[in-house]
Amino acid sequence: MLADKDRIFKNLYGLYDWGLEGARARGAWDGTKAILEKGRDWIINEVKASGLRGRGGAGFPTGLKWSFMPKQSDGRPHYLVVNADESEPGTCKDREIMRHDPHLLVEGCLIAGFAMGAHTCFIYIRGEFIREREHLQAAVDQAYAANLIGKNNVHGFDFDIIVHHGAGAYICGEETALLESLEGKKGQPRLKPPFPANVGLYGCPTTVNNVESIAVVPDIARRGAAWFAGIGRPNNTGTKLFCISGHVEKPCTVEDAMGVPLRELLDTHCGGVRGGWSNLLAVIPGGSSMPLIPAHDCERLLMDFDGTREFKSALGTAAVIVMDKSTDIIRAMARISYFYKHESCGQCTPCREGMGWMWRVLSRMAEGRAHKREIDMLMEVTTQIEGHTICAFGDGAAWPVQGLIRHFRHEIERRIDDYSANPHPEPVRVAAE
Ligand SMILES: Cc1cc2nc3c(=O)[nH]c(=O)nc-3n(C[C@H](O)[C@H](O)[C@H](O)COP(=O)(O)O)c2cc1C
Ligand code: SF4
Repeated sequence: MLADKDRIFKNLYGLYDWGLEGARARGAWDGTKAILEKGRDWIINEVKASGLRGRGGAGFPTGLKWSFMPKQSDGRPHYLVVNADESEPGTCKDREIMRHDPHLLVEGCLIAGFAMGAHTCFIYIRGEFIREREHLQAAVDQAYAANLIGKNNVHGFDFDIIVHHGAGAYICGEETALLESLEGKKGQPRLKPPFPANVGLYGCPTTVNNVESIAVVPDIARRGAAWFAGIGRPNNTGTKLFCISGHVEKPCTVEDAMGVPLRELLDTHCGGVRGGWSNLLAVIPGGSSMPLIPAHDCERLLMDFDGTREFKSALGTAAVIVMDKSTDIIRAMARISYFYKHESCGQCTPCREGMGWMWRVLSRMAEGRAHKREIDMLMEVTTQIEGHTICAFGDGAAWPVQGLIRHFRHEIERRIDDYSANPHPEPVRVAAE
């Protein structure tokens, strides 16, 4: 279990003052000027050496991403954009940072902005986050009032933060759709290249980072890269916020070390699986886009990038959705497909048409009203969506279906057999439109 001294998020549960005074008492804004005085390269190298990988889902190394920004401005301003859209089902970690410890993010923005020569930062926050936005805006206002940010601030680097709220579209969490939305356009992903580091917000060099990725930066800079890199295991370093929901005794969001065994995570922080470990059916380890992992693999599952990959899944946002044996796993995946059908932005044909197709087939399969040959057909369709779309939404919608077929084909077949033996069961309702 993560030692208390290694915690970054000391007010995760909102027990203490979330404002500037409280944050300062917990160590925020301590020696920030000295950090900036070490220079841009020092900060980027420190973040690289810490091994920090993006906490928004893809796990791209943060320091490396920052180094893609031009060293010198060619006349265009540089922008830092913080992705606070947090719409991935099961994910509820960034909201805790913003409502309970927003100064970690505000200070992180200043340090990251300085490292990339960005004098302006936009924080794009999910439209439904009302309290989070209020606290975050208040924290930004406090930082301005204390002259920690703004023009001629005590740190000697002019820096503005603008909190911008979205309107509640999942796709606006995809970084280029977010930039479109921020520019006032319809939130639809852009083709890449060009990448945002060259042509991002308003055509200027831009880096988009997740809230958690930025909020851990001040601690890395203060305590040193070696401290962060010493937690977890190589390639999977640091502390991580895990959001655990579903069939556990006490769902929660908790900070623990990367690589913590899943079973330890659930038993230590969540009171275990409802009905005991033997009642576990499967988990989705990283938000609804990631393939499920069946119970027999969960015993050996380590919660980090490589640990989840070993079982053909991914850490994603580290939102662990626990499903016990009472779960109708086909219906659950059909419901997830319905979500993706609803959220597709519609630009790419495989995604726009494929989402509805997968949802309809899965809804029939949940009832058993299907042919066994359709299982392979469904798998084939997922592979025609995966990798054939403008953004990773298509992949993230195909993977849960692939996970279902990979691990629960027998359950789909059994249901088809049951239906053929008794073709008029009560219809199973799945997310009626
Ligand atoms: C459909 C879709 C939705 C996404 N939603 C979010 C989100 O809500 N928050 C987030 O930080 N990243 C989200 N991402 C990932 C972002 O595109 C981007 O990779 C991330 O913000 C980069 O930050 P990081 O490098 O710090 O992880 C999403 C990606 C896709 C394809
Ligand atoms: S994959 Fe889907 S969400 Fe992404 S751009 Fe294409 S249609 Fe839009």
